[in-house]
Amino acid sequence: MIKVKNKINIGVVGFGTIGSSVVKLLLERRRLFRDRTGIDLNLMFVCDKDLRSKRSVSVPKKMLTRSVDKVIRHPDIDVVVELIGGVHPAKEIITKALSAGKHVVTANKLLLAVEGEAIFKKAEEAGREIFFEASVAGGVPIIKAIREGLSANTFYNIIGILNGTSNYILSRMSGEGATFKAALKEAQSSGYAESDPSLDIKGLDSAHKLAILSLLGFGKKVGMKDIYVEGIEKISPVDIQYARDWGYTVKPLAIAKREGNQLSLRVHPTLLLSKYILSSVSGAYNAISIDADLVGKQVFYGQGAGKLPTGSAVISDIMDTASAIIYGKKSSRFIAAKRAEIKKIKKMDDVRTRYYVHFSAIDRPGVLAKISGILGSNNISISSVVQKERREAHVVPIVMLTHEAREKDMQSALKKINGLATIKRKSVLLRLEG
Ligand code: HSE
Repeated sequence: MIKVKNKINIGVVGFGTIGSSVVKLLLERRRLFRDRTGIDLNLMFVCDKDLRSKRSVSVPKKMLTRSVDKVIRHPDIDVVVELIGGVHPAKEIITKALSAGKHVVTANKLLLAVEGEAIFKKAEEAGREIFFEASVAGGVPIIKAIREGLSANTFYNIIGILNGTSNYILSRMSGEGATFKAALKEAQSSGYAESDPSLDIKGLDSAHKLAILSLLGFGKKVGMKDIYVEGIEKISPVDIQYARDWGYTVKPLAIAKREGNQLSLRVHPTLLLSKYILSSVSGAYNAISIDADLVGKQVFYGQGAGKLPTGSAVISDIMDTASAIIYGKKSSRFIAAKRAEIKKIKKMDDVRTRYYVHFSAIDRPGVLAKISGILGSNNISISSVVQKERREAHVVPIVMLTHEAREKDMQSALKKINGLATIKRKSVLLRLEG
């Protein structure tokens, strides 16, 4: 057994699902963590506005407090663990804790996505650590991998399934042919989706996580306005089936791609060639594929949510913080941020990709010629086209895949096509990867 050198005092702020899990692990595995790190991780305070609700762990009364200031100001507290989520008052708590000389561990993806730069700057000025492994992909140690394990690399792209709820819904639609509505309902009743699932299904949660990964991987501060975001609501089982016929699986992807010294950033449902590893990541699981110059392609896979996987990530951050304090191992958090080779965020209009388009057209001579004429005059070349059997009053699905084209050209072609008298419903546009 390693001799215990020292003790670190911890204050956990936020005693919800993740907070309870972290508190439970700190109490029940204290000895194990001490043996592993050589440091006694001592839980000193657990803070929450609500101390009445029943939790999965019982905590000695003297540890419990409703006062955040009591935790932050206490001279013996070394690490403040912020687990309340949201921007306010989490930002103020973290800022105050850093100013008071405390190190910080947080799981707060929204806060880091929108205020990360200010918070990292504050930590640097204060000479304190801030760790945030649980903010992206729950139990998958992707942040550590990017900023430490892969820190010698130049990244070409980071492509992830970063939202378990959306992945669960699309997987159910793919597997059982469920409608979006039915799959969402099922996700809610099995506890995968929140009662208000908008952040997840509209792609915003993935965008927050992509902003964090992009800062680390490409050294580029990314704001929400830099990321093109589309949700999964418009996906229907029929498009999943057509995509499958061509060898593709529809996945909720978050994509950060280097193109020269520019970075393109987008979150949208994507047709991914079924042979790719990310295509077989189903249910609520997350996965991140990285392409970098020294290591080539790597894929990280695992549970992106849940109290135990997320608790695992938070505890590993607490251990890292404790090691930094006791052994003086400086965190490498700014090494990645200082790579900064990316000069510009590419506009979505200029992104080039392949497309899947589903037109609902009247079955009449010349309709297909008209559609392909508009595509051609907008520099869009068709790679495959299928007209499915007539199903309802003369309206047929015409489904195509295109070669690579510019987004702006595709959008203007689509606008013209949607305006044709022979097009009976808004066309469905999806992008391809692989
Ligand atoms: N709501 C997220 C998801 C989990 O569905 O993946 C927490 O980041």
